[in-house]
Order: sequence, then structure tokens, then C-alpha cells
Amino acid sequence: MAHEDIDKVTGVATTGHEWDGIKELNNPLPRWWLWVFYATIVFAVGYVFVYPAVPLVTSYSKGLLGYSQRASALDETAAGQAARAEVGKGLANASLEEIKNDPKMLEFAMAQGRAAFGDNCAPCHGSGATGSKGYPNLQDDDWLWGGTLADIEQTITVGVRSTSPDTRMNDMPRFGADGLLDAKQVRNVAGYVLSLSGSSVKGADVEAGKQIFVENCTSCHGEDAKGIQELGAPNLTDKVWLYGGDEESVIYTVTHAHRGVMPTWGGKLDPVTIKSLAIYVHDLGGGT
Ligand code: HEC
Ligand code: HEC
Repeated sequence: MAHEDIDKVTGVATTGHEWDGIKELNNPLPRWWLWVFYATIVFAVGYVFVYPAVPLVTSYSKGLLGYSQRASALDETAAGQAARAEVGKGLANASLEEIKNDPKMLEFAMAQGRAAFGDNCAPCHGSGATGSKGYPNLQDDDWLWGGTLADIEQTITVGVRSTSPDTRMNDMPRFGADGLLDAKQVRNVAGYVLSLSGSSVKGADVEAGKQIFVENCTSCHGEDAKGIQELGAPNLTDKVWLYGGDEESVIYTVTHAHRGVMPTWGGKLDPVTIKSLAIYVHDLGGGT
């Protein structure tokens, strides 16, 4: 190099530029920094060619790879849906027992059943399916209309005293209100019914009540009073009560009957959802 102008104060060479007596020192950028800088330029140019980068008037430069985040997200969603549809199709064609015995279908059905239960059934049966007065507990193994998978699916599909032409149907007579039994007879038969589960009704003649029961009640509740599931007539010998097991409640039931309504879900929910619900409810406390 020819003659270098060295700054006296710092001892650094100047670039030779001078403004009003102020000279510019020649302090070049470090090499490594420059190389990184050049590398980013190369990368950026490559990126512009390969990936979508430049906004155009109506569109944008698509890049050589044709990559699109939107498309790849849609692809992933579609793949997930296809996998679900596959299991769903399996469910549509499988019997309830087959679903129960196939871990993959069972998992799918349980998840769908739980969700559908929360949406459609919890308002009446409770979010934990434990029911309340007039709305049966579906957790226990005590069933009005039967607790097999097929029974439960049928109940859900057609409902009870519902608007479906195939509804499960059986109306207990309003013995007191319609004058089939007088107040004393109602009290006596209530006394007999409660004696079966170890309770009593004040002033009731249990023997007379038993006679009334045989004549009026066994056709639905059975000779042993243990209920008949084809008729939806509950077991009266256990301590599980839909409408209350105290003296007052039982007398009210025999006087007025209740005739609870469970809506029909056939047509409102698709068959796969109904199957899933049957599996889910059966899992809560179903019988074989
Ligand atoms: C409007 C209230 C209501 C809704 C909503 C409802 N249920 Fe019910 N459900 C009832 C009543 C009341 C009964 C009892 C009917 C009777 O007295 O026989 C019942 C009975 C049942 C039974 C029969 C229980 C037994 O012991 O045999 C099953 C199973 C059942 N419901 C499942 C469901 C499912 C699953 C759903 C949601 C898709 C549902 N219910 C929604 C009111 C309802
Ligand atoms: C035609 C059939 C039928 C006859 C006859 C009948 N019941 Fe019922 N009973 C039912 C049905 C169905 C239920 C279910 C409850 C409902 O209506 O929602 C029921 C419910 C009951 C319950 C309520 C049980 C509970 O868990 O809360 C009592 C108590 C009862 N019956 C007593 C009697 C007595 C006593 C007689 C005779 C005097 C009688 N029933 C005759 C069909 C009958």
C-alpha cells in the first residue's frame, strides 16, 4: 500500500476521507461477521426461489416447492378425519358385542358416547348419570327396561312413553285417583310393598295389602314383586326407588302413578351415536 495516514490519537489508519478536519478511521468489520452477513443474503435469495415469498397484485410468488401452510394443515386434518371415518364406518357395521370386544372401536365409542351423553342426556339423568327423582340412575345395575347392550340400545332408540310409534310403553293405573282402590286399600298395599324392603306404613294391614297386591299388581310387578323388565315395571323389593321409598311417596305413586317420559332418540341421533351411547351407558352399570 502507498502512504498510509495514521491517526495520531488512536494509532489507527484512516480511510483518507476528511470532513471539516475530521478524519474517518479505518476499522473494518470482523471477518466472521461479514461471512455470516453474506450467508444470510445467499439464504434469503434461495428462500425467495424455493418458498412463497413475494406478494404480487392478486396472488404471491409460490416458490419452487409449492409449499403452503394452509394446504399442509388441511392435509393433516383430512388425514385425521379419514382415520376417524374409518373407525366410524367400522362402528356402523359392527354389532354392539363386536364393538365391546375391539379395543380400538371401544375407545372410540366410549369417547363419542360420553360426549353425546353430556350433550343430550345429562339434563335429565345428571352429568354423572346418577339420575334424580323420576329420572333413573344409570350407574347402578338396577334396570327398568333391561340392562343388556341390546336392551339399552332399544330404550335409547325408541324411548319410553315417547312420540315414537315403537316406544316402550306401559302405564301403571292411577289406583287411587281413578277410584280403583280406596284410600285404606292404597295404604294397605303400600304397607305390603314397603314391608318387602324392611320398611312399614303406619296403620297399614300388611296381610290385606298382600291380597290387594296379588289381585292388582302382580301382572306388572310379578308375583314376587321383583319387577318385569319387558313391562318396565320396577323391582319393589329392593331399596332402589325411582319415585321415593318413604311412606308418603309410595302412597302417592299408587294413588297417581307417574308414567315418566324418556324421549326417543332414533332419527334425532345417528345410529353410530346411539350405539356409542348404549356402549357408554352399559359400561356405567349394565348387566349381561
Ligand atoms: C327429558 C328427560 C330425559 C332425557 C333427555 C333422557 N332421558 Fe333417559 N329416561 C328418562 C326417564 C324419565 C326414564 C324412565 C322411564 C320410565 O319410567 O320407564 C329414562 C330411562 C332411560 C333408560 C332406561 C333405564 C332403565 O332402568 O331401564 C336409559 C338406558 C336411558 N334413559 C338413557 C338415556 C340416554 C342415553 C339419553 C340421552 C341420549 C337419555 N336417556 C335422555 C328421561 C330422559
Ligand atoms: C300395568 C302395569 C302396572 C300395574 C298393574 C302396577 N304397576 Fe306399579 N309400576 C308400573 C310401571 C311401568 C312403573 C314404573 C314407573 C313409571 O310409571 O314411570 C311402576 C312403578 C311403581 C312404583 C314406583 C317404584 C319406584 O321405584 O319408585 C310403585 C311403588 C308401584 N309401581 C307399586 C304398584 C302397586 C302397589 C301396584 C298395585 C296396586 C302396581 N304398582 C301396579 C306398572 C304397573
